[in-house]
Amino acid sequence: FDYDVLNGQRVVITAGPTREAIDPVRFISNHSSGKMGYALAEAAADAGAEVTLISGPVNLSAPAHVKRIMVESAQDMLDAALHSVENCDVFIGAAAVADYRPESVSTNKLKKGKEASMDIRLVKNPDIIATIAALPNKPFTIGFAAETNDVLSYAREKRLRKQLDMIIANDVSIAGIGFNSDENQVTLITSTDEISLPQTSKRQLARQLIEQIAPHLPTTR
Ligand code: C5P
Repeated sequence: FDYDVLNGQRVVITAGPTREAIDPVRFISNHSSGKMGYALAEAAADAGAEVTLISGPVNLSAPAHVKRIMVESAQDMLDAALHSVENCDVFIGAAAVADYRPESVSTNKLKKGKEASMDIRLVKNPDIIATIAALPNKPFTIGFAAETNDVLSYAREKRLRKQLDMIIANDVSIAGIGFNSDENQVTLITSTDEISLPQTSKRQLARQLIEQIAPHLPTTR
């Protein structure tokens, strides 16, 4: 599979879950495998792009010719994204960023008390992709919308609210696609088009997505 549709383009991709610490040994996270983001990083590099992959904790090795930055929390991911995004042409947010984090992180391991319940107060995390999309010289910004119901209408709303150039909608209520699986079925939404791609492997889908993204970029360097 040789193509060069992203020759010379700089692409930054977030992937995987984030981990939000509760204390030195505990955290809040989610089941994101990172497979879609890693597949996109591989496909973008194969297409000639210079790729930076900002990854939460996953069991995947870095694709060839991809610069990988490992992070844990949403705040770490945002810092790495802001640092990497300068002079970049495309930003793809494929990470499953935790919406909330514990308000404070205990420096010592929390002990089990006598009480039958305990409360952990959570505060909102920054929205990484919305922060990137609000930058004065924003890259072409692509997000994901994993939804269980009213998939397309939530995705359209999310694209507009976060000022994304494109959103990739997928229905995670269907077993075998999306979260933690090897296949996916998505609809691409821009301001002018909605394109449904058939169910296929994340690897194959990533290549199709790169081909769909390429014509939207101003110039090939
Ligand atoms: O979680 P949500 O459905 O809002 O995610 C939509 C898009 O926003 C995804 O591309 C995700 O990577 C991104 N996102 C982000 N920072 C957050 C939450 C979501 O970049 N804090």
